[in-house]
Amino acid sequence: MRALVLAAVALVLAPQLAARDDPRSATVARGLAALSDPELARGDYVEHCAGCHGVQGISAPAKLPELRGRVGYMMCTADTRAYLLRLPNIAKSRISDNQQLADMLNFMVFGLGGDSVIPGTQPFTAQEVEYERRFALTSASLVAERKRHVETAIRKCGAPEAFRDFYRTRG
Ligand code: HEC
Repeated sequence: MRALVLAAVALVLAPQLAARDDPRSATVARGLAALSDPELARGDYVEHCAGCHGVQGISAPAKLPELRGRVGYMMCTADTRAYLLRLPNIAKSRISDNQQLADMLNFMVFGLGGDSVIPGTQPFTAQEVEYERRFALTSASLVAERKRHVETAIRKCGAPEAFRDFYRTRG
C-alpha cells in the first residue's frame, strides 16, 4: 500500500520535477536572464540580422544557415564560440557597445536556439565579444571555417549530421 501511494505521488510530481530539473530549460532561462535589456536585444537582432536570417531565425530556402533550433550547437567549444564572434556580420557590426552586442547574441543563442542549446552553455560576456571581434573572418574563409566547427559540434556536442546542411529539409 505504501509503495502504491509513493508511486502515485511520484506520478503527480514527475512532470513538475522534470520541468524544473531539465538542464536545457534551466540553461535557456539563465541565458535569457543575462540580457540587460531583452527588448533592445531583440530589436537589434531584427534590425541588423533578420533581413537575411528572418525574424524567427528561419531563412530557408535561402542559402544561409538557419539559426532557429540550430545556432545553439555552435556554443560547443571555445573555438566554435569564437567562430560566431568572428563572423564578419557580427565582428564588424555597427553595434559598437560590446555588452549590447553580447546581449543581442545571447538573444540569438538562447532565444532562437531552442533545442540546440547545449545544457550548461554560459552566455557571452562583453569581454569575450570585445576580444574575439578583433579577429574578424574574411568572407573567403567562411565556408571552410563553418565546416570545421560543424564537425566539432557533431563530434563533441551531439549536433545532428544534418547540421552540415544550412537548414533542415522539410518534407
Ligand atoms: C546580408 C545577409 C546577412 C546578414 C545581414 C547577416 N547574416 Fe549571418 N550569415 C549570412 C550568411 C550568407 C552566412 C553563411 C556564411 C557561410 O558560412 O558561408 C551567415 C552565417 C551566420 C551564422 C553562422 C551560423 C552557422 O550555422 O554557421 C550566424 C550565427 C549568423 N550568421 C548570425 C548573424 C547575426 C547575429 C547577424 C546580425 C548581426 C547576421 N548574421 C547578419 C548572411 C547574413
